[in-house]
Amino acid sequence: MVCASLQEGSRPDESDSDAMKKNQKCNTQNGERNIMSNPLFDLSGKVAIVTGASRGLGQYLGRALAKAGANLVITSRKMADLSAFRKEIEQLGRKALPLSLDVRDHDSILKMADDAMAHYGKIDILVNNAGCNVRKPAVEVTWDDWNLILDTNLRGTFFVAQAVAVRAMIPAKYGRIINIGSVTCVAGYAGLGPYCASRGGVKQLTMSLADDWGVHGITVNCLAPGWFKTAQNKVLYENEEWVKYLCDRIPLKRPGKPNDLDGAVVFLASDASEYITGQTLLVDGGISTGATRATVAKK
Ligand SMILES: NC(=O)c1ccc[n+]([C@@H]2O[C@H](COP(=O)([O-])OP(=O)(O)OC[C@H]3O[C@@H](n4cnc5c(N)ncnc54)[C@H](OP(=O)(O)O)[C@@H]3O)[C@@H](O)[C@H]2O)c1
Repeated sequence: MVCASLQEGSRPDESDSDAMKKNQKCNTQNGERNIMSNPLFDLSGKVAIVTGASRGLGQYLGRALAKAGANLVITSRKMADLSAFRKEIEQLGRKALPLSLDVRDHDSILKMADDAMAHYGKIDILVNNAGCNVRKPAVEVTWDDWNLILDTNLRGTFFVAQAVAVRAMIPAKYGRIINIGSVTCVAGYAGLGPYCASRGGVKQLTMSLADDWGVHGITVNCLAPGWFKTAQNKVLYENEEWVKYLCDRIPLKRPGKPNDLDGAVVFLASDASEYITGQTLLVDGGISTGATRATVAKK
């Protein structure tokens, strides 16, 4: 099976500016893809934190929220890595506050939340996107590998949510928390033991926080992307055989493209999802269906 081209539409990472131009076109021509034309999806005046916005999916997600009207807080461990994205968001007519954040450092989390509140006076939306991965056979995983992945993806997600909920969302009786999961929230893959454990944990954490904070008007959902080409997994996409194998198992026959997450993140951040909480929304071209086909018997 031929893999539908990654180039079609927009390419990951390196072509973000092309994707942006294309999107701007889409958003202005004949109302096509103009999510802001529907007030249910309008994020004007909202403030959204997107963690891990120095590259990859964090930028795709932040861009979609900004296009729907939100002002952003964007974070990275390296402030210099946020400057280009900050400019891009400002060119869209939105504000972007770059803040330093290491989700493995509790003090750093508390400072980021304090600084965001001091600047904007509120936080309506949190996208818990910062994350990492180490791909290794289970027998080679070290104690430190395990701690790195679980501390970043699971503990970090929890304590960023807690810091933002306590300072901003519980007092305001309003909030939209979107934890970034993965297809590994619902499926296991060889070589990804700690990562799958962290993402399964994020799915369960999402349900627990939804129950804890629903009373405060906060929804907590998990947005689970399938396979998108980013810096985190670039090396996989250099292997043509693997890409073919991957695409064959994806019902929609291609990996994710940058704009594939736009609708889902805006939906979960907006009034359109007001009565939805504790859920995991997979945006994965269908790979979580299992997608292993049986041979059809010939008559
Ligand atoms: N790519 C995919 O196919 C895919 C699929 C499903 C889920 N995901 C998840 O989606 C998220 C983004 O993935 P990606 O592919 O865009 O990854 P990426 O290109 O490696 O980017 C990861 C982001 O997380 C930040 N980060 C990493 N460790 C951090 C820490 N200790 N503290 C604060 N920020 C940290 C990085 O920021 P700095 O290095 O600048 O600090 C960077 O902005 C991750 O959680 C990933 O697991 C990815």
